[in-house]
Amino acid sequence: VIQNVLCFFIFGPLLFSDFHCSADIPSTTQSPTTYSTTIPSTTTTPQPTTKPVDKPSVGNYSVLNGTEPCLLASMGLQLNASMLFEGKNVWTALNIDPSNTNSSGTCGNETALLRLTNGTTVVEFHFVIKEKNFHLKEVNVTLFNVSDLSYKTNFNLSLWEASLGNSYLCRKEQLITVSEDLYINTFDVRVQPFNLNKGNYGT
Ligand SMILES: *[C@@H]1O[C@H](CO)[C@@H](O)[C@H](O)[C@H]1NC(C)=O
Ligand SMILES: *[C@@H]1O[C@H](CO)[C@@H](O)[C@H](O)[C@H]1NC(C)=O
Ligand SMILES: *[C@@H]1O[C@H](CO)[C@@H](O)[C@H](O)[C@H]1NC(C)=O
Ligand SMILES: *[C@@H]1O[C@H](CO)[C@@H](O)[C@H](O)[C@H]1NC(C)=O
Ligand SMILES: *[C@@H]1O[C@H](CO)[C@@H](O)[C@H](O)[C@H]1NC(C)=O
Ligand SMILES: *[C@@H]1O[C@H](CO)[C@@H](O)[C@H](O)[C@H]1NC(C)=O
Ligand SMILES: *[C@@H]1O[C@H](CO)[C@@H](O)[C@H](O)[C@H]1NC(C)=O
Ligand SMILES: *[C@@H]1O[C@H](CO)[C@@H](O)[C@H](O)[C@H]1NC(C)=O
Ligand SMILES: *[C@@H]1O[C@H](CO)[C@@H](O)[C@H](O)[C@H]1NC(C)=O
Repeated sequence: VIQNVLCFFIFGPLLFSDFHCSADIPSTTQSPTTYSTTIPSTTTTPQPTTKPVDKPSVGNYSVLNGTEPCLLASMGLQLNASMLFEGKNVWTALNIDPSNTNSSGTCGNETALLRLTNGTTVVEFHFVIKEKNFHLKEVNVTLFNVSDLSYKTNFNLSLWEASLGNSYLCRKEQLITVSEDLYINTFDVRVQPFNLNKGNYGT
């Protein structure tokens, strides 16, 4: 908490043009975060993993339009999936390792896609523009589970909203619910999918 308060006061004026998640903004009356989604109740009771998991490293990712970036993102990603092991569903945390991950995607006038590929694991982030803001609308995860690739998609997200020309920032850990058996823990998110300033984050 102290670190975040310090960050806010040191970098506060610098970051006012960007959009921080409410969890990052210190306040005495903490308003409820609008970025969390409800966790659906599961009918199965998987065994939670007991071994502690390291925080994922933060990766810098981009999508190019020609030679210039048209989408920039940096974040640490941890998938938390209920996977079948020896006949039992076990919650398994998988860190996305930036040094083994490729980014690709598309930039459009109204939609943008960031696709992160690590072998058979693919995480897609679909962004849309609504009025003067953008937000994360859809996340699609492909995982190798048991003996097959399984696709999990949440088409109806409304996360990571910021106004056009700015980036969205959230230092705190956040949870994206992809499906009832797949979550993504995100760390140190900064993303700008539209209106970059000469290939850089807008200021
Ligand atoms: C990501 O970009 C930031 C800002 O440019 C830089 O400080 C950091 O070292 C980069 N991280 C990696 C893993 O390249
Ligand atoms: C993964 O999700 C399960 C079920 O919600 C939870 O019990 C577990 O703590 C989560 N693990 C991580 C590393 O977030
Ligand atoms: C993995 O496979 C098992 C068995 O088919 C299933 O219960 C579980 O939901 C799957 N998990 C994911 C994330 O696809
Ligand atoms: C990413 O790729 C590396 C090297 O191929 C592998 O060791 C690691 O398990 C992969 N991570 C995920 C989340 O698939
Ligand atoms: C991609 O580059 C072309 C040529 O410079 C430009 O006209 C177009 O607006 C750019 N598109 C995006 C999404 O940045
Ligand atoms: C995107 O916007 C540019 C400039 O406003 C325009 O020239 C181009 O035709 C648009 N592209 C699409 C696919 O709408
Ligand atoms: C990244 O892309 C390069 C070139 O397409 C490919 O050789 C490499 O295997 C890819 N790495 C991963 C982790 O997908
Ligand atoms: C999810 O991503 C996979 C791999 O990129 C793709 O084959 C699949 O069609 C996508 N599903 C949806 C619903 O977008
Ligand atoms: C999408 O989410 C919104 C608000 O979270 C909700 O009102 C709407 O019914 C949802 N649509 C679908 C297709 O689930």
